[in-house]
Amino acid sequence: MMQMTILYESGLPDSQEFFDLFETTGWNQAKPIQQDQIYTAISHSWYTVSAYKDDRLVGFGRVISDGIYHALIVEMIVHPKFQRQEIGSQILCKLVQRCREAGIQQIQLFCARGKSGFYQKHGFKERPVDAPGMEL
Ligand SMILES: CC(C)(COP(=O)(O)OP(=O)(O)OC[C@H]1O[C@@H](n2cnc3c(N)ncnc32)[C@H](O)[C@@H]1OP(=O)(O)O)[C@@H](O)C(=O)NCCC(=O)NCCS
Repeated sequence: MMQMTILYESGLPDSQEFFDLFETTGWNQAKPIQQDQIYTAISHSWYTVSAYKDDRLVGFGRVISDGIYHALIVEMIVHPKFQRQEIGSQILCKLVQRCREAGIQQIQLFCARGKSGFYQKHGFKERPVDAPGMEL
């Protein structure tokens, strides 16, 4: 397969482009969040990575963090037409690398249904059943 040229940037993407990408996940249906709200949310990230193919946003991922001890990886998204081409892996590696550079020990994420294989490939482990992640 011919290797695609993908550009990875740490700046924020365009609001509409991000929202279109976000909507491809189907996450925004049960409790929808508005475009301006999610954009404000991502602009408060500690670190973001955006992936572009020919100036088009095709992937995104971000870290929420205190910059020292805890980091949470969220909104890992690759456009369906561009999945399984290593873009998600590249984004995840860059997010983790940035956390490691800052010496952050606790790097966590919530795995979407069916995606644990992807994260396991990158060294993430499920928490023990007697010490689970919890939510309200
Ligand atoms: C999860 C996601 C970000 C992965 O991005 P991607 O660019 O498709 O992943 P990559 O191409 O880098 O995959 C790397 C490896 O993980 C594997 N992989 C990818 N998706 C997988 C899945 N759902 N289950 C198991 N393995 C998977 C690939 O097979 C690949 O391994 P290989 O090269 O040995 O075949 C992408 O599928 C996505 O955006 N999904 C929709 C949104 C979502 O659910 N995000 C996750 C939130 S927790």
